[in-house]
Amino acid sequence: MSYTIALNFEDGVTRFIGCKAGETVLDAAYRQKVNLPMDCSDGVCGTCKGHCEQGEFDMGDEYLEEALSDEEAAEGQVLTCQMVPSTDCVVQVPVASSLCKTAVGKVEGTVAVVEPLSEDSIELAIDLDDGAELAFLPGQYIHIDVPGTAEHRSYSFSSLPGEKRATFLIRNIPNGVMSGYLTERAAVGDRLTLTGPLGSFYLREVKRPVLMLAGGTGLAPFLSMLEQLVEKGCDAPIHMIYGVNKDDHLVKTDALDAFAEQLPGFTYTTVVVDEESRNPRKGYVTHHMDAGVMHDGDVDVYLCGPPPMVDAVLKHFDEQGIVPQSFHYEKFTPNQAPGEAA
Ligand SMILES: Cc1cc2nc3c(=O)[nH]c(=O)nc-3n(C[C@H](O)[C@H](O)[C@H](O)COP(=O)(O)OP(=O)(O)OC[C@H]3O[C@@H](n4cnc5c(N)ncnc54)[C@H](O)[C@@H]3O)c2cc1C
Ligand code: FES
Repeated sequence: MSYTIALNFEDGVTRFIGCKAGETVLDAAYRQKVNLPMDCSDGVCGTCKGHCEQGEFDMGDEYLEEALSDEEAAEGQVLTCQMVPSTDCVVQVPVASSLCKTAVGKVEGTVAVVEPLSEDSIELAIDLDDGAELAFLPGQYIHIDVPGTAEHRSYSFSSLPGEKRATFLIRNIPNGVMSGYLTERAAVGDRLTLTGPLGSFYLREVKRPVLMLAGGTGLAPFLSMLEQLVEKGCDAPIHMIYGVNKDDHLVKTDALDAFAEQLPGFTYTTVVVDEESRNPRKGYVTHHMDAGVMHDGDVDVYLCGPPPMVDAVLKHFDEQGIVPQSFHYEKFTPNQAPGEAA
């Protein structure tokens, strides 16, 4: 029996390790050449402290209160030198990956599909080389090198981890470096290099209602999260508000309809900015967050999209005094300032 432990470092790098039954996370990490912070290895110093975001484990009772207080343990903090997992786990490690002599992974693959979904977005599917199936947490992203340039861009997976084919939903930005490659030069069979996975925007264990707020291609990570919920089974109420600028920018609604059939608690609504839109809901996502979707604050909120949309939602929450149980967001921040495009 072995469990998969995702180690999430402070710099956003994630490394996956196998942990044998009865083995501590610290020992498993060392066996796989990830030098997690440690000193005593005996539950005394507290140097190996991290935070378990997901999963079950046993910490025994051999460690000292000075190393980990009862309050810290109740908040989910762990000593990796004492932590023996009994399921797959996600552990946040409060140092940069480089300090643990580990680094982000690199994989190669071949373009399998590159096609426009609308004037605004492109679907990219990459068949990863044999043995390069990628472990990541649904919601995370990866860097993709832009062929023929020294540039890379970040993209959230829209597919499930561990699959041969990784898919992405990419906004077509006029004169963009990646957009230019995808619309003008990319062809099935092109070789691509990917570096990752990265990021702390991933689906946590679903313990209460979830609100998903997606702007444009910010839909991508939610597709991966929802796939995983279908795979695992979930009947919690999950509502998505998916906003775009124009009617024909709404994509993948067939996939959302399928999720609504497969997940008993999943519903979604669409919102379109364009005043001429045929959509029943016009304006911005923030105009359509009625009280019902907030469950009196007993809700985990996930927000992803271009910076103006993410900023608008953050401002709205702030002004309305909305404080959900947990709040996670990913901003699709551009690499270049507007006007700097090559
Ligand atoms: C963590 C993370 C995850 C991301 N995931 C995704 C994803 O799943 N799908 C996706 O489509 N994008 C995603 N992005 C954005 C993506 O990395 C690129 O920034 C985007 O695709 C533009 O790349 P480009 O090379 O085509 O354009 P660039 O050459 O980078 O930019 C060209 C010009 O357009 C401007 N520009 C760039 N983005 C925007 C924007 N959103 N609005 C207005 N102007 C802009 C730039 O400032 C520049 O002037 C993500 C970004 C981050 C940081
Ligand atoms: S290394 Fe000292 S408490 Fe874990």
